[in-house]
Amino acid sequence: MAVGIFDSGLGGLTVLDAVTRRLPDVPFVYFGDNAHAPYGVRDADDVYQLTCKAVSRLWDEGCDLVILACNTASAAALRRMQESWLPSDKRVLGVFVPLIEALTERQWGDNSPPREVEVKHVALFATPATVASRAFQRELAFRAIGVDVEAQACGGVVDAIEDGDMILAEALVRSHVDALKRKMPDPEAAILGCTHYPLMDKEFQDALGAHVKVFSQANLVAESLADYLERHPNMLGSGTEAKFLTTGDPRKVSDRATQFLRRRIEFEAA
Ligand code: DGL
Repeated sequence: MAVGIFDSGLGGLTVLDAVTRRLPDVPFVYFGDNAHAPYGVRDADDVYQLTCKAVSRLWDEGCDLVILACNTASAAALRRMQESWLPSDKRVLGVFVPLIEALTERQWGDNSPPREVEVKHVALFATPATVASRAFQRELAFRAIGVDVEAQACGGVVDAIEDGDMILAEALVRSHVDALKRKMPDPEAAILGCTHYPLMDKEFQDALGAHVKVFSQANLVAESLADYLERHPNMLGSGTEAKFLTTGDPRKVSDRATQFLRRRIEFEAA
């Protein structure tokens, strides 16, 4: 009854951590495509090809349902996968919608017309590919009107986190928040639109100020997955064993993952 969790690298561990706490009986199989991270500087076709390959590998592990715990893949590849690639007995879900539902104060599956919401000025921090796709703004426009979104492409942050260079990551976060504030001086809310960024959530909150409400995905995705599995228990695949797969160097990736999750994580070669 396993479920797959995919990311380009280590960022999806923030989602893995939350889903494991919310659904302790479900074995999760994590796939980090560390050899090809970051995805955020790749073109959409490249992201699509890499994501399909990783998801197929998770099917081999008995995961009929895979969560793309990667905004870049959710933005650049998910729709194409669902429209032209996915077999009818498999499902792939992204991480955008639960976040937008929280921001727009909606319940799951509320498809009523877009309406005014409380927040009017929203800062979006994401990878260059996610920002270029405008997928976040598109999904938001289905649900809310009158929200001004200023997006900041946070070049370099994912690379620094993958390299374990948290000092550089922090400096980059500060400079990206400064750049955002030059375009939007007083955001009311900020979206961490990359699953790597919750690893730097204190730095984002510090740089933005305590009055800015920072939304990140892990817990929202966990709630929404629990709800989905309750309604679709047949999507729990045949896999029985939780494991961590990487296309990168398993030893290096295990060490970084252990540092981030503060418990021993052992990756194996994908
Ligand atoms: N964690 C991925 C995301 O949510 C990072 C993408 C990348 O590899 O650049 O977008």
